[in-house]
Amino acid sequence: MKYAIITGASRGLGEAIAKRLLQEQIAVISVSRTENEDLKSFANQKGLTYKHHSCNLALENEVQEVFLDIAHYIFENTPEEIYLFNNAGVIEPIHIVGNLEQAPVIRNIQVNLIAPILLTNLFFQKAGLTSTKVVAINITSGAANRPIEGWSIYCSAKAGLNMFTQTAALEQAEKNPNNKIIAFSPGVMDTDMQETIRSSSKDAFKELERFKELKENNKLLRAETVGDALVDLVLNGEPESGRIYTINELI
Ligand SMILES: NC(=O)c1ccc[n+]([C@@H]2O[C@H](COP(=O)([O-])OP(=O)(O)OC[C@H]3O[C@@H](n4cnc5c(N)ncnc54)[C@H](OP(=O)(O)O)[C@@H]3O)[C@@H](O)[C@H]2O)c1
Repeated sequence: MKYAIITGASRGLGEAIAKRLLQEQIAVISVSRTENEDLKSFANQKGLTYKHHSCNLALENEVQEVFLDIAHYIFENTPEEIYLFNNAGVIEPIHIVGNLEQAPVIRNIQVNLIAPILLTNLFFQKAGLTSTKVVAINITSGAANRPIEGWSIYCSAKAGLNMFTQTAALEQAEKNPNNKIIAFSPGVMDTDMQETIRSSSKDAFKELERFKELKENNKLLRAETVGDALVDLVLNGEPESGRIYTINELI
């Protein structure tokens, strides 16, 4: 059986990816602080394999405990292939440097960068002991390549995620070419994250008006459209390890 672990499957892009993978008969392990009841009943009605693990990815101990459990469960079932979607993300803090508070800065880097690093490390390590192929998909952002005033922490975390992806891909090509790791930049989607962005203040975020206009002018992508394009790439598109894909290349 093929397994997918999806962080942040409770809503937004993660939910769309999870639903599509279930439709493809792939066993889904969802990880977030809250559970998506629709996904659960969808899987139950269709008799599909779905499990939810509650975990705060900003807490190192929870990450360690929950993911060792998940890895144990999956590897015990001799998986054919494992997809690790490092999708959970946070935009906050939205403030200019000098006005940042310590706790949200640390939380942002933990969720957006440290958790994906630790999870990829764990699954590549376990895969090295078996013949299972692991594909890690890191959800990044255009903000990794463009400094956006007010988003210094988010931009830095996503830039770090891109570099981690490229470096790990080089290592795996040599050590375990079965494994792949890519990054994917989903474009501006109509999710809760955009609501958070629109509710920030102009003093903290210079481009606020532009983001409000994107919503008013119906320019935001649907999470389902983006999720489908990504799943098509991962399942059928032979993704190139180390590459940072963007949604514009796929739709
Ligand atoms: N929306 C956009 O326009 C946009 C653009 C570029 C890139 N992205 C990236 O796309 C990915 C998905 O974003 P989205 O728009 O779908 O976001 P979203 O709707 O805000 O959903 C975020 C997801 O992350 C989870 N999450 C947040 N903090 C967490 C924590 N501490 N522990 C565990 N899970 C946590 C949330 O689950 P719980 O709250 O249940 O824990 C939720 O499922 C993110 O990596 C984001 O950076 C989004």
